[in-house]
Order: sequence, then C-alpha cells, then structure tokens
Amino acid sequence: MLNLVVLTGAGVSAESGIPTFRGKEGLWKNFKPEELATPEAFRRNPKLVWEWYDWRRQIISKAEPNKAHKLLAQLNAVIITQNVDGLHQRAGAKKVIELHGNIWRVRCTNCGKEYENYEVPLREIPPKCKFCNGLLRPAVVWFGECLPLDALEEAERLAKSCEVFLVVGTSGVVYPAGLLPFVAKQHGAKVVEINPESTPISEIADIVIREKASVGVEKFIRTMLNL
Ligand code: OAD
Repeated sequence: MLNLVVLTGAGVSAESGIPTFRGKEGLWKNFKPEELATPEAFRRNPKLVWEWYDWRRQIISKAEPNKAHKLLAQLNAVIITQNVDGLHQRAGAKKVIELHGNIWRVRCTNCGKEYENYEVPLREIPPKCKFCNGLLRPAVVWFGECLPLDALEEAERLAKSCEVFLVVGTSGVVYPAGLLPFVAKQHGAKVVEINPESTPISEIADIVIREKASVGVEKFIRTMLNL
C-alpha cells in the first residue's frame, strides 16, 4: 500500500459552503486578520473577536462534509489540516492532525482548561469558563502564535517519510504549514496538488490537478491510485 499523506486547507471545505480566507470571496477581503485573529486583537476587544468566531461557528454548524472530505476519509491516510471546522472527522477520517486547532474547542485564559463547546449561537459573548468563570478564547492558532508542537512535529515526520504528499485546497502561504510540501519533496516524496488556482506549491508539484477538491480528489483516486 502506498504511503500517502494529505495536507488540506480551506479550499477543501469551500464546496461545503465555508468561505476560504484568500481569493475573490475570501474572508480576508472583508475582514482584517490583525483585528480578528491575533492575541493582541483578542486582548483589545474579546467581544468583537468572539462575535466573528460565533458567526463562523454558525456557518460551520450548518455545513456538511462534501465529497472531497468523504473520499479522503476513505483513503485511510493521515490528514494534516489547517482547517478548524472538524469536517474531516465528521466525514469519518480516522487520523486527523489539526495544525491550527479546532473552532469547537475553547480554552480558558484564566485557569488554562481546554474543552469542547458546541453552543451555537453562543448565549453569552464573550463566553466564560464553566470551571472558573474566566474569559474563554477559541482554541485555535492565531497569527503570531506557535502551532501545537506535537502536531507540528508529527506532521513534519510524516512529510519526511511519505511516498506521496497530496495537497488539497491550500494557498500554501501561511507557515509553517505551507512548508510541509517542500519538506516532503526534499525528502523524496512525489507532491500532488489539487487546486483550481496556482500557488507556490504548484512550482514544486510533480502533478497538478487544476480542479475543485471534489473533482480533483476523485481524479486522483481513479488515475493515481487506480481505485
Ligand atoms: P486560503 O484561503 O489561503 O486558500 C484557499 C485555497 O483553496 C486557495 O488556494 C484556493 O485557490 C483554493 N480553493 C478555493 N476553492 C476551492 C475548491 N473548491 N477546491 C479546492 N481548492 C479550492 O486557505 P488556507 O490555505 O487554508 O490560518 O489558509 C491557511 C491559513 O490562513 C488558515 O488556516 C488560516 C488563514 O489565515 C489561521 O487562521 C492561523
């Protein structure tokens, strides 16, 4: 069996109706990351940041995994994702490494406890910790923050040891996640990119499938894996 590792970004969830960050209709066209997705922004205005996350949680709560999530789940490969929406897991993927956290988890800025919270919409903004009543934050990685070390180390180990590194729906411009295809390539993997648009990863990809995720993943499975 081929040693395959998958890296995904917001594009894999686009067909589920979840906006991507960059591009024509991307979130960063209408919102400023420095006002919504940094520790400083949260210190300045936790209510505003939480209103934005509450809005995104509402969109994600109504979304269903799409064909790409489902096909990828059937491959039984490890999926490294930058997405915080949990749709790979909902599609049945057994092993998902979340590099940027999960929007359905919260962490207390006071006692440090982290736990799941599926309340949609949130009753109280900003929400408070159920243990100590401290201010909660989304358990996601913001700009300027470190990625969870164990997740990043495992992702790097997998990139270094796989035969095929499949990249689906990421612009590849946010580091360190965006470096993983380069690490895989340097260590001898074939890099396959599925993305309707060109990215920095396209330059080093051995195969580029210029399709949306659902069509692209189906093509990949049919032509590369002969399944
Ligand atoms: P981006 O929004 O930067 O990129 C989405 C990519 O998906 C683009 O390259 C699109 O061309 C592609 N795309 C759009 N529709 C698609 C479709 N239907 N099928 C396949 N691909 C499609 O999203 P990410 O690369 O995930 O980080 O962004 C990386 C990180 O930047 C995010 O995790 C987030 C963001 O700021 C943090 O919040 C820390």
